[in-house]
Amino acid sequence: MRSKVNITEEKLSELKAAMEIHKKEPGPLMPTLHAAQKIFGCIPLPIQKIISNELDVSIARINGVVTFYGHFSVEPKGKNIVSVCLGTACYVKGSQGILDAFSHDLNVKVGDTTDDGMFTLEATRCIGACGLAPIFTVNEEVFANGSVQLVKKVVQKLKS
Ligand code: FES
Repeated sequence: MRSKVNITEEKLSELKAAMEIHKKEPGPLMPTLHAAQKIFGCIPLPIQKIISNELDVSIARINGVVTFYGHFSVEPKGKNIVSVCLGTACYVKGSQGILDAFSHDLNVKVGDTTDDGMFTLEATRCIGACGLAPIFTVNEEVFANGSVQLVKKVVQKLKS
């Protein structure tokens, strides 16, 4: 189960103000989606509908963009985002085992968020640091030469 998104009047006004600015510029959809992601922490369907009406872009297109780009999410993400690279260099050095270890130790499926909203676990593509494979990140921090042992240490630290 994931935490519910908090859609307040204040946040909606913030989104509308952002749309007013971006509507005057060419290609207003992407900057508007970035603003929405920042304001709400995700872009659920009700927010997509508001953007669709305001920018006159179909909901199908908006949903396609939101679900395609890893930066956007339809549901709120956890306080800590754990991402494991499954690119080729990382994969051949055992990143699937790292992903499985996180899934087990955090008790969450890949692509999901823990019930307490503390952790989101994601699989990513190559982040361009193949020489340090296997790689995983926790929020902004990059962990090189990952292993199941390192996962255990990191999870212990994150939970403490
Ligand atoms: S394949 Fe993982 S960083 Fe390139």
